[in-house]
Order: sequence, then structure tokens, then C-alpha cells
Amino acid sequence: MALVIKNLEKRKIKKFIILYFILSLFFFNDAVSNESGKVLSFVAGCYGCHTSNPNQPFGGGYEVKTKYGTFISPNISKDELNGIGNWGKEQFIKAIKEGLSPKNKPYYPVFPYNWYTKMKESDILEIYDYIFSLPAVKKNNANHDLIFPYNIRESLWFWRLANKIITNKNNIEYNSKYNSRGEYLVNSVGHCGACHAPLTFLSIIKDYKNLGGRKETSKFSNDSIPNISNDINEGIGLWTESDIVFFLQTGIKPNGDFVEEDMALIIDHGTKYLKQDELQDIARYLLKIKK
Ligand code: HEC
Ligand code: HEC
Repeated sequence: MALVIKNLEKRKIKKFIILYFILSLFFFNDAVSNESGKVLSFVAGCYGCHTSNPNQPFGGGYEVKTKYGTFISPNISKDELNGIGNWGKEQFIKAIKEGLSPKNKPYYPVFPYNWYTKMKESDILEIYDYIFSLPAVKKNNANHDLIFPYNIRESLWFWRLANKIITNKNNIEYNSKYNSRGEYLVNSVGHCGACHAPLTFLSIIKDYKNLGGRKETSKFSNDSIPNISNDINEGIGLWTESDIVFFLQTGIKPNGDFVEEDMALIIDHGTKYLKQDELQDIARYLLKIKK
């Protein structure tokens, strides 16, 4: 906390919303610091992406708008009718790591299972236990609203094949081990590249470790995503380790600007719950600083 205050004094602050972040930091520190399943489910985005109403955690209904149409996240609470109450641990792990349903139907990669592929099973099971420790949410699932041919789930078999060919060929490192907690949090649990990695054909990602950002898809769409590599000109190479830690706690950039939209949610529902040393590890990984 002291670090947050010290950093705040150093910066010119532009938006009131910061207060909200600081207050929720206090609140969080007191309430739930030991619940690792909860923290993992927040940092991995499971909570953020599967919750549209905070009174119905994991009840689904959150909309993800893409150029393929709008995806509506399903209910993954322990409700037996609408959620995953009937699922065993094996089925849960298979969905998260392989993107396949208990009946072997493929999931759309908007559910970022390609990042979770290398998540530790023990971490996935902590998330499972956390979700099953909460009340069931009785909320129906809505259908995605996708354009043809993406609305045909079977076409995902083609996507999976293309993804396998393109990714494996160009990204040998993808199957290597993580060298630090920071790298694991960035490239697996926190799936930062799900937004910050450049896309190719059919939104396939060639290199899961490339955080070079995305260009706008059209002049009107305003959907570019910044480069967060350690490049000094294009990326965040001039940020310090504590700039990054502070940003992932509060959403405030080194120039005093407050972060916008999607990234604000990633922080508010995710990274601000991480411990100080984990955030430092992320910062070191992003800046490629050796310990
Ligand atoms: C960016 C949004 C997003 C994130 C982050 C996300 N999911 Fe999902 N998830 C989805 C969407 C959308 C679907 C539906 C995919 C489909 O219909 O093919 C889904 C599907 C699922 C399913 C299958 C449900 C069913 O009824 O078949 C499970 C289980 C699940 N997610 C759990 C998780 C867990 C656990 C995490 C965190 C480790 C997570 N999700 C993170 C968006 C997300
Ligand atoms: C859902 C998409 C999404 C995910 C996932 C995501 N980001 Fe972002 N991120 C964005 C967007 C959009 C912006 C631009 C927001 C802005 O500039 O105000 C951004 C901005 C940033 C910035 C500021 C860059 C700059 O130059 O201003 C940093 C640093 C950052 N993200 C780090 C991360 C890290 C670390 C992770 C993983 C823990 C992550 N992001 C995951 C969408 C995402």
C-alpha cells in the first residue's frame, strides 16, 4: 500500500476513478488475500469474462464483441441445469487445456484455452474448487450472435488444424518451459498475448510470446492494441519495473493517464489481485530483466 501512495504522489492524476481502484485495493487486501483459487480465477479472467452481474459470479452473459460477431459467455457456476454442476475435474481440465467439451465439441478460441494449455493442473483445480465453493447461479445461457460461416461450430475443426500448423511451425519456443513465475503469469494464466500478440490469418497467433500489439483493422474501428514489448520506441521499454507494477495495480500510466476500457477490466478483475512480488516478476519478464 505504501508503495501505491508514494507512487501516486509522484504523478499528476487525471481521473477520479483512481480513487475507486485505491479503495478496492484496501478492501481486497483485508478480505481475501489467501484464497489462491479466487486470485487465479480473477487473474486468468475466468471471473471477468464469465460474470455479467457481480451478484451472480460465473453466471455468464458477458459479451465479447469481435469482427466475427458477439460471443456470450456461458454459465460456469455449479448450477446443474445451466452451468457445469455435473462436470467432474477431468472434464474441467480438458475444457480449459484443450478447448473441448465433455462431448468433444470444440470451443471457440475467444475462450483463451490456447494460453491455458500450459497451466498447471493444480492451479486449474484450485479454480474448479473455488467455483464449486460458490452458490449455483440459475441463469440460462444465451446463443452467440456470429456471422456465417463462423456460426457453424464444426468449422472450428478446420481452425484448429490451421492453428496447429501455423503455430507449431513458427513458434518452437511455445512448447518450452517457463523460466519464471512472471513468464508463467504473462504467457499462460494472464494470457496477455490474447490481446497484445499480433494476429495472422483467421486471427491465428503465430508466436505466443510476441507482445508487439495490433494495428487498427480499419480507420473507424479504433481497435488497435499497444505494443508491450521492451522496445524503447514502440513498446514499454522506457517504463521502469515499478511503473509496470503500479500500472497493473491501479491502471495509471507513467505519464499520469488512466488506462482505457478492456485493459481497465483486466486490472480491476485481475492483475490488481496479484502479490507485489508476482507483479515485480511480471515487470521483469516484460522488460527482460534477469534476476
Ligand atoms: C475472454 C473471455 C473468456 C475468458 C478469459 C475465459 N472464458 Fe471461459 N468461455 C468463454 C466463452 C465465450 C465460452 C464459450 C465458448 C464456445 O461457445 O465455444 C467459454 C466456455 C467455457 C467453458 C465451457 C462451458 C460449457 O458449458 O461448455 C468453461 C468450463 C469455461 N469457459 C471456463 C473458463 C475458465 C475456468 C476460465 C479461466 C481459467 C475461462 N473460462 C476464461 C469466454 C472466456
Ligand atoms: C482483453 C484484452 C487485453 C488483455 C487480455 C490484456 N491487455 Fe493490456 N491492454 C489492452 C488494451 C486495449 C490496452 C490499451 C489501453 C490504453 O492504452 O488505455 C492495453 C494496455 C496495456 C498497457 C499500457 C501500454 C501503453 O503503452 O500504454 C500495458 C503495460 C498492458 N496493457 C499490459 C498487459 C499485461 C501485462 C497483460 C496480461 C496480464 C495485459 N495487458 C492483458 C488490452 C488487453
